[in-house]
Amino acid sequence: MKRAWWKEAVVYQIYPRSFMDSNGDGIGDLKGITSKLDYLKQLGVDVVWLSPVYKSPNDDNGYDISDYRTIMDEFGTMEDFDEMLEAMHARGIKLVMDLVANHTSDEHPWFIESRKSKDNPYRDYYIWRPGKDGAEPNNWLSYFGGSAWQYDETTGEYYLHLFSKRQPDLNWENPKVRDEIYDMMTFWLDKGIDGFRMDVINAISKVEGLPDAPNPNGEKYVWGGQYFLNGPKVHDYLQEMHERVLSKYDIMTVGETGGVTTQDALLYAGEERRELNMVFQFEHTEKLDSGPGGKWDIRPWKLTDLKAIMSRWQYDLHGKAWNSLYLNNHDQPRSVSRWGDDKRYRVESAKMLATFLHMQQGTPFIYQGEEIGMTNVQFDSIEDYRDVEIHNLWQDRVVRGGQDPDVVMRAIHAKGRDNARTPMQWDDSENAGFTTGTPWIKVNPNYKEINVKNALADPQSIFYYYQSLIRLRHEHPVVVYGRYDLILEDHPEIYAFTRTLGDECWLVINNFFSGTPVFELPDHLPSEAPQLMISNYEVPENDDIRRIQLRPYESRVYRLS
Ligand code: NOJ
Repeated sequence: MKRAWWKEAVVYQIYPRSFMDSNGDGIGDLKGITSKLDYLKQLGVDVVWLSPVYKSPNDDNGYDISDYRTIMDEFGTMEDFDEMLEAMHARGIKLVMDLVANHTSDEHPWFIESRKSKDNPYRDYYIWRPGKDGAEPNNWLSYFGGSAWQYDETTGEYYLHLFSKRQPDLNWENPKVRDEIYDMMTFWLDKGIDGFRMDVINAISKVEGLPDAPNPNGEKYVWGGQYFLNGPKVHDYLQEMHERVLSKYDIMTVGETGGVTTQDALLYAGEERRELNMVFQFEHTEKLDSGPGGKWDIRPWKLTDLKAIMSRWQYDLHGKAWNSLYLNNHDQPRSVSRWGDDKRYRVESAKMLATFLHMQQGTPFIYQGEEIGMTNVQFDSIEDYRDVEIHNLWQDRVVRGGQDPDVVMRAIHAKGRDNARTPMQWDDSENAGFTTGTPWIKVNPNYKEINVKNALADPQSIFYYYQSLIRLRHEHPVVVYGRYDLILEDHPEIYAFTRTLGDECWLVINNFFSGTPVFELPDHLPSEAPQLMISNYEVPENDDIRRIQLRPYESRVYRLS
């Protein structure tokens, strides 16, 4: 396996709106980020991935861009950006920006032109179609509910929007669109940024003809992913992008690719493919705890399923492509609430989840607040939520659909994206030290207990545990490059595996629940001289590792040879 800096790095994702507000307007900003870089340095991360900071009317918090080359007013200025980038580089931290190129905002000048007339030079920058039998051009469901098409009166046609109606999809078939995107990427790379996280990048090529999706249950709109995810020209476009832009810089790229299999990932991120460095897969975050009804159809999850998914990604990519490792981001509920116990064993389970993830092969991504064990939030009123997806759901199901509001609210509490978007909890002062003004979204009421100040004052905190995990990765190549092998495959409570590089072998043991199961070391592994590398409980010296009665959410990592 070839060595690369981005394989050895740990990434920290910042959702700027909720990270740190420097000017009291209640919205996080770039100066706020700059003021917290020493904190990130202390944690030890190598790279920051910054969610979008470009000019935007914020229908989807910056994922609807109206000018790719300007900073969003609320976040500051280009000078603030340059200052932030310099301050990151001065600390040895790299910066990866969000590239949102599947769609723009409806306020982007290209779209404003495009909708003016059918012969406008920008018409073909977007995907316009006439209606079919007095309705939408096809039956595709948008990611945020309802039709993926919006009728526009000026020209009497519909435009495609896979996300909100204020996020029209760009037409990648048009070479001018691709040129514009590549130029814009070059603009940012020439400023000295260190890579891109590419938003829904596997949706940029749509199947010709935009056919109706099969609709066995006769629903109004149905999921049409098979016609736009991993579409026919996506690899041509990415190879072109690589050739024209990416190959010219020493950067890191990670594509957000919903619905990909490991075989798809080898095409996007195969070592020799000249496309991307990594992809974000969604099997553990989308499938594990969802039923056939999708994200809001919440089901209990099984550890053996999680093992099967993660192990498949570890095995299938080994030596051929590189994994990204994540449990949280700005679209997912908080991992400690979802897979751990955010009450009695919050600290133990947050550390266990971190161990399980950071000890795998791949590049780990930490989402702001994860390193202090921030949890989901439970607002009582829909008014307290800000996310367009949550509001669309409420409209669809409660207001128009007449469903039980309590049931829908429970689903929002479990899976809503605002769980991850409440302000970063810095201290126990008002608004958790995030802002001196009124925050754009309420702070999680548990900030008095869960905050950075407390974490930094407590040597046993989750923060210092993450710091240790990051250090282990930096100091031991086996953590980065070692081969992964699952052991105790069928155990319902313990997730254990080994990592091997040359003669060195590490053993990772995680008790995923609050029981006290017994770990039994498989015979083929050496037990003579185990060296404890990290654990989330006190471990008696010379503990016999052939048989360990684990405590709730206990994690241990041993070097066996
Ligand atoms: C994925 C982003 O992560 C999400 O936040 C956004 O709503 C959609 N893409 C649309 O850009």
